[in-house]
Amino acid sequence: MMTTFVVKFEPSNVALPSESDSTVLDTALAAGFFPKHSCRRGECRACETRVVSGDVRYAAGVTPDGLKPGHCLTCLAIPTSDVVLDAPEVASVPGRRIVKMGARVTSVDRVSGDVAVVRVQTPAGSDFKFNPGQYVDVVLRDGARRSYSMANVPADDGRVEWHIRAMPAGRFSQHVYQNLKARDLLRIEGPFGSFTLRDSEAPLIFLASGTGYAPIASMMRAHGGSLAKRGATFYWGGRREEDLYAMEEAMAWANSAANLKFVPVLSDPDDQWRGRTGFVHEAVQKDHPDLSGFEVYACGNPLMIDAARHVFRTECGLVENNFFNDSFVTAVNW
Ligand SMILES: Cc1cc2nc3c(=O)[nH]c(=O)nc-3n(C[C@H](O)[C@H](O)[C@H](O)COP(=O)(O)OP(=O)(O)OC[C@H]3O[C@@H](n4cnc5c(N)ncnc54)[C@H](O)[C@@H]3O)c2cc1C
Ligand code: FES
Repeated sequence: MMTTFVVKFEPSNVALPSESDSTVLDTALAAGFFPKHSCRRGECRACETRVVSGDVRYAAGVTPDGLKPGHCLTCLAIPTSDVVLDAPEVASVPGRRIVKMGARVTSVDRVSGDVAVVRVQTPAGSDFKFNPGQYVDVVLRDGARRSYSMANVPADDGRVEWHIRAMPAGRFSQHVYQNLKARDLLRIEGPFGSFTLRDSEAPLIFLASGTGYAPIASMMRAHGGSLAKRGATFYWGGRREEDLYAMEEAMAWANSAANLKFVPVLSDPDDQWRGRTGFVHEAVQKDHPDLSGFEVYACGNPLMIDAARHVFRTECGLVENNFFNDSFVTAVNW
């Protein structure tokens, strides 16, 4: 007989029945609740959550190490009793429903030597909606998944824009860059992710490497007014100038209000480059040795994100809960 336990999130008191092999995160997402998460497969740690009471297990071979005492990774944890979790980010009413659908490619623009801006149309009846900063999974023929963040402002017409970088020998991203074309059909599922702007008055730092710009572009476009009030600086890192494939757009955003700034940073520039150089998180540290009053939203390369989180917390006084990120972990076994 299938055992059902109750997963409860505090302080919202949302209580959900959980099927025997369902992870805590899947149980919540299926019901329209969004505990903090990003990769959904145990690699980014965004979902590390304190267990108030109860027990969980992990499927064979995937036990996470280095967890804080009394915490679990909700994307891997399967309840073995009723479980209560400390998850202040979980709202008391359900939000977006996750939907699976076929989406038609409407355009593919190769905007640099390895980045394609892809636009797709979700079907009218699918009722697909997302919050700025969220992502969808593209489901490949064999069931493998690849995640891509929406870069556009959520629109009633169901259009979606992605920025996809072709990874060296990358299975899906190379296909996108080399072959994908208008009218192709993709199977997608979403929205996922909790990398969304928190309601706050704190000034903020946006930090991206490469196509990590995509969800940040969505937030910038959607929340222009509140960002101008709070004050925001966007640091965008790449190796060469070409990697910052939407430089004019980022500059236009910064020029739209006195409180907004854009700082491009290149780690391997050519001789013509007159801007900042080095690692992008080091540029933030140099400009903001005290980040104690800030929120940081970081997206892109996992190494950049780990380094930024570490340096900002240990050397710049950033409050632990004020670092939000989506780590573009790749999916060798996914
Ligand atoms: C939440 C989230 C959001 C994301 N959003 C975006 C986005 O907006 N834009 C974007 O460009 N990307 C994004 N990504 C990354 C994206 O999902 C894919 O991982 C990426 O496009 C690579 O997919 P791929 O199939 O081309 O590469 P894969 O085939 O998965 O390979 C990835 C890399 O690993 C290497 N590799 C493959 N197999 C092996 C092996 N056996 N051993 C060693 N190395 C190997 C490949 O050469 C390649 O460089 C996101 C990821 C996450 C988790
Ligand atoms: S480790 Fe759980 S969402 Fe990434």
